Amino acid sequence: MEFNLNEIKRKANESISQGAVLPDYPLDVTEACKKLNEALASEILCVLRYRHHQVVAKGINFPQVAAEFKEHAMNEEEHMMMIAERIDQLGGDPDLNPATITERSPTDYGTTGDLAAMIREDLVAERIAIEVYRHLIEWFGTGDPTTRRMLEAILADEEEHAAELADLLVNMNTSMTSSNLLESDQISG
Ligand SMILES: [Fe+2]
Ligand SMILES: [Fe+2]
Repeated sequence: MEFNLNEIKRKANESISQGAVLPDYPLDVTEACKKLNEALASEILCVLRYRHHQVVAKGINFPQVAAEFKEHAMNEEEHMMMIAERIDQLGGDPDLNPATITERSPTDYGTTGDLAAMIREDLVAERIAIEVYRHLIEWFGTGDPTTRRMLEAILADEEEHAAELADLLVNMNTSMTSSNLLESDQISG
């Protein structure tokens, strides 16, 4: 594409009410907002799931795991707001309607279980989110580098979350195995 400043100035003045979206925004902006709204729904569910797990894990006396859930919930809230603001910048409506969040989200809210089950549920959701963000990053490509960079930053966080949850699961299994061994030692001793 040839760099023509006069043409750039003309386009910047055209349809000025559309804010960040210039007339030659190369992607289908309605589709872009629809995809971002699906990611938004998923982030909202992640906030709710992590907050739920945070409270329940604290109740069953696992303060370190509760702290981890809390930190993830705060990250997901940041993602939620980043995506909502980007949808608004693109001229769309960030959909926070609770009535349709679960049907729009690729991830699930989950069910209550024991601590290991909660961590597993969060890990599955993170792994789904990683796939979804990879797809979105490819879709936005060079057409909308601002959205793509935002999604890349979110993807890096989700990968970190998944790694932390996988570590938590391993640690839990190890400590459960060693406490079982201790118990059996005591029984046999
Ligand atoms: Fe997230
Ligand atoms: Fe996450």
